[in-house]
Amino acid sequence: MPAAEPKTLFIRTYGCQMNVYDSERMAELLAPLGYRMAAAPDDADMIILNTCHIRDKASEKVYSELGRLRRLREVRAAGGKRMILAVAGCVAQAEGEEMLRRAPFIDIVLGPQTYHRLPEMIARASRVSGVPVLDIEFPPIPKFDALPARSGAASVSAFLSVQEGCDKFCTFCVVPYTRGVEESRPVDQIVAEAEQLLAQGAREITLLGQNVNAYHGDGWSLARLIRRLAKLPGLARLRYTTSHPSDMDDGLIAAHGEVEVLMPYLHLPVQTGSDRVLKAMNRQHTADDYRRLVERLRATRSDLALSSDFIVGFPGETAADFAATMALVDEIGFASAFSFKYSPRPGTPAASGLDPVREAEKAERLTVLQARLEAQRREFANTCVGRVLPVLLEKPGRHAGQLLGRSPYLQPVHIEAATARIGDEVSARIAAAGPNSLAGELAVAEADA
Ligand code: 5AD
Ligand code: SF4
Repeated sequence: MPAAEPKTLFIRTYGCQMNVYDSERMAELLAPLGYRMAAAPDDADMIILNTCHIRDKASEKVYSELGRLRRLREVRAAGGKRMILAVAGCVAQAEGEEMLRRAPFIDIVLGPQTYHRLPEMIARASRVSGVPVLDIEFPPIPKFDALPARSGAASVSAFLSVQEGCDKFCTFCVVPYTRGVEESRPVDQIVAEAEQLLAQGAREITLLGQNVNAYHGDGWSLARLIRRLAKLPGLARLRYTTSHPSDMDDGLIAAHGEVEVLMPYLHLPVQTGSDRVLKAMNRQHTADDYRRLVERLRATRSDLALSSDFIVGFPGETAADFAATMALVDEIGFASAFSFKYSPRPGTPAASGLDPVREAEKAERLTVLQARLEAQRREFANTCVGRVLPVLLEKPGRHAGQLLGRSPYLQPVHIEAATARIGDEVSARIAAAGPNSLAGELAVAEADA
């Protein structure tokens, strides 16, 4: 086969890690067509916006970016150059047809479950220029059966999607509508992909799923999958995200105490500390259930650090409900957390909820919560100072001789480590905690080695 003519591709990724993973797979899929990654959209022959629909702000960003790209496209057309513009991801899935009405200059609109067909879509878009391609089906044969093996160099810390979609139907969330019902990938396919990633240089793998701990491929639980993957030679670290508290089963809790490569850090969203709001959100657990779960996890793995997502200003949330969230935060102590103002999403049950919280009130609660969470993050970072932590080195640092890695708790760590290499897991003495990262130096044993 003759080599494909070289072209350039620019992908802008919004939202979650699953989108980062999907973008990588799209890039790998298009490489045999001659597409090489471009650092900026300006000269790219093809641009993909991989979009996120989780909150209003995320969706709106896409439309403003589309405005800019329309002008870029006009400039390029005036110079006689074509640019293919594709919109992928969850906004495309949720609003595909409306998007084409609002932005008819888009060439391709595709959903998260159809991107394996991108090469055909590009061929169609090139053949019938001017008629956009819309492909937002939920195909009966999963994309994973059609995608090529992982190719190219893997990052030291790689993502691997094991589960997609969600059947929980939290009343605020669009995921069950944009990503579809829950689907788990077969074990063999996951093991094969993990082996490819490790062969291509990965040392850490993060298993991804919208509701990853509901994994049930081939009847296996996530805990069993973790134990299987932990045996792979070359794997230094394993993580999984995002988990639902009511799917943390006994086996998974036990794995945290027994599987050495499983990192002592868990993203376990609680959303709110109020039972009333948890019920209205259809979260299927109480605040006390969450407390007990954290207690059990910490009893299994005493150094487990937690992270969470929070929503403030859910319809009907009172000052007392918010106080319950603050009380829960104080009791648990989070190493890091994400928090958001409730954003009504079209088509979700809560969007038609009575009793919305005033915008100013939401903003105020968010400020109060974020200040507390930030204080906890700093406090946790300060407890790391003086300790020797394993750090997996991921990329060059800010200057020669410095490398950037991650602690077990996902904190970025800058290390003066001229003797170490990217991909090494080193022992580092943490010397200082800054606003966004830790600073350390190689602990003596490694420096001498
Ligand atoms: N409004 C605000 N935050 C939301 N999230 C999901 N849906 C919404 C929404 N409608 C947050 C939740 C979830 C995280 C990924 O995004 O906290 O855990
Ligand atoms: Fe959305 Fe997560 Fe709830 Fe599923 S569990 S509906 S992904 S918030």
